[in-house]
Amino acid sequence: RWVVVVTALLVVTVSADINVAHKQQDINHLLYKITSPIKSSFNDLKEMSETWNPREHMDLCSDGGAAVEWLMGELENHRLLKQHHWFSLFNDRQRTEALWLFEVFMQCTDFEVFRNNAAYFREHMNEGEFVYALYAAVTHSDIGQYIVLPPLYEITPHLFTNSEIINKAYTALMTQTPGNFRMNFTGSKRNTEQRVAYFGEDIGINSHHVHWHLDFPFWWNRDKIDRKGELFFWAHHQLVARYDAERLSNYLPPVDELYWDSPIKDGFAAHTSYKYGGEFPTRPDNKEFEDVEGVACARDIKLLESRIRDAIALGYIININGSHTDINNEHGIDILGDIIESSAYSPNAAYYGSLHNQAHRVLGAQADPKRKFGMPPGIMEHFETATRDPAFFRLHKYINGIFKEHKDKLPPYTEQELLYSNVNITNVKVSKLSTYFEDFVFDVSNALDTPESFSYVSVTATISRLNHEPFTYNIHVQAKHDDEVTVRIYITPKRDENNIVLDIDESRWGAILLDTFWTKVHAGDNVITRKSSQSSVAIPDRVPFFELLEDADEAVANDAQLLHQEIRGCGHPMRLLLPKGTKEGLDFWLDVIVTSGDDAVHDELTIENHGSTHGYCGIHGMKYPDKRPMGFPFDRRIPEIGVFKVPNQHGQVVKIFHH
Ligand SMILES: *[C@@H]1O[C@H](CO)[C@@H](O)[C@H](O)[C@H]1NC(C)=O
Ligand SMILES: *[C@@H]1O[C@H](CO)[C@@H](O)[C@H](O)[C@H]1NC(C)=O
Ligand SMILES: *[C@@H]1O[C@H](CO)[C@@H](O)[C@H](O)[C@H]1NC(C)=O
Repeated sequence: RWVVVVTALLVVTVSADINVAHKQQDINHLLYKITSPIKSSFNDLKEMSETWNPREHMDLCSDGGAAVEWLMGELENHRLLKQHHWFSLFNDRQRTEALWLFEVFMQCTDFEVFRNNAAYFREHMNEGEFVYALYAAVTHSDIGQYIVLPPLYEITPHLFTNSEIINKAYTALMTQTPGNFRMNFTGSKRNTEQRVAYFGEDIGINSHHVHWHLDFPFWWNRDKIDRKGELFFWAHHQLVARYDAERLSNYLPPVDELYWDSPIKDGFAAHTSYKYGGEFPTRPDNKEFEDVEGVACARDIKLLESRIRDAIALGYIININGSHTDINNEHGIDILGDIIESSAYSPNAAYYGSLHNQAHRVLGAQADPKRKFGMPPGIMEHFETATRDPAFFRLHKYINGIFKEHKDKLPPYTEQELLYSNVNITNVKVSKLSTYFEDFVFDVSNALDTPESFSYVSVTATISRLNHEPFTYNIHVQAKHDDEVTVRIYITPKRDENNIVLDIDESRWGAILLDTFWTKVHAGDNVITRKSSQSSVAIPDRVPFFELLEDADEAVANDAQLLHQEIRGCGHPMRLLLPKGTKEGLDFWLDVIVTSGDDAVHDELTIENHGSTHGYCGIHGMKYPDKRPMGFPFDRRIPEIGVFKVPNQHGQVVKIFHH
């Protein structure tokens, strides 16, 4: 076993040689000031962007150049979206173009071709399409391995910060004075929703959301990604559960679901503008749904909803050829996720449509549904910005309700399914849980186009963000014999907004996964110690773009190795692991469930965590590591607390403080 591990480590170090530094440098330079031409000091890239003709290198594409051929044809016929124009993935034509570029990248047989094609198309295609295609290709192509994608909030700051900051940044640039500006959350204290804006507008959550959709794109039609539909359910369900927990600590009721027949209660003024294309549209309060020209009517969406609800009631879905697939089982959620999103995996998109994607578009276009004012897409039409709008959580509450309807039809877990007789949990100790706000600074200078003659001016934004003190769990267990075990840790609000204690069957849907991992127990008494920083649902702060630039340049200059550890962008920010507490302490159930190591899909999970962020994001390129349904054991009804309380489960009340 150790031999395998050692060899694996060797392979990692060998392939992560000087090459990685060069690759990283090229990717950095391609993304530097994306709306300006490639800087002339980036010699190689600049030259390639001017001299490289993708058509002349089609032999280096594994598809024989089919993708290059198509894209070049569209380019030469002036059919591609021009530069300096907004881009939205939900726009069919724009997505098609971005995906052709993605295809070009995926067909490159080595990094050099990849890089040169990228340099060429960066200067000839729309910047938004380029950034999307590049991020998707680095994420999914073998060529992109070990490359760290810069945080998107520093590459396209317009989509992550507000217009006020951008305006001030321009002033700083024009007067050539470095500036740091405090970014306020949108809205004012008169708007109660403002109290939780720090969550929806957290740039780490926004970044997670984009990366989740990059790792699991709805358009994905290549090799099968394991349990992609179920992950769609789970990642969004957890976002909503987290949001509701934040609302609770801010004295707000849980977010209400969206109703197609009632007005959208809360309006939203984004205070955000496109780099090109004006302000994001504003939606007033109590907006009645209007049909959106060329997208969908509310009536059609309701029809899709009722077809999906019929499928749940009947227990089967109808495939495109008319055959039926049973969904009254633990795999049903995966199929429903594909159908509702709707992803390219949907077994019958003609019949079930694409409820989620259409809802995003319909919500995004409510400010100008008839396209009378030529408004650009709304905040809901970008994964970068969607969570800023409270309507995002309303929509996902509504979608979540459909998933719950399905889950509630399944039988509750039996004692046999819950019990792992090798282990009794005797005690769980957790250190003090407390949250606080801190300031965070990020760079927005990439938002500004500057003539090369301008000297560099540092422009940064400071934002207030939630964080928590590190904490540790000590899980005391008695085991009959040595074994590998699966551990799952959840917290769940104990009371509702009226301070009424919730019954377990009411509260379970709000359970938030804090961590899940595999470890070993020995016969007798054991203490499983786990730190909050090891959580498999969260990632540390992204490496700032300027650090990536400096590190790569330095490594290339010194022929040195570059090894950034934390590569994945998918995962909740570590800072947000705990929901905000209150001064007097907010009560949560802390539940620990230990089950057999047989729940693991892969060997070695006790020593190798494969990128450490599998909870909401799976393992990149591999099967989801846990055989049980996501959310186990809180995903099913719990009518009998007695059945649920097996000795390998332990629940206790903890308080989260805020200071
Ligand atoms: C943020 O709010 C403060 C206080 O209300 C104000 O002084 C400041 O100008 C605001 N910042 C921006 C960028 O609007
Ligand atoms: C119909 O489609 C389902 C699901 O794609 C497939 O399993 C089945 O074999 C198909 N049946 C026929 C008769 O083609
Ligand atoms: C766990 O506790 C039960 C009694 O509550 C006992 O029957 C069982 O043997 C214990 N198991 C272990 C592994 O200690």
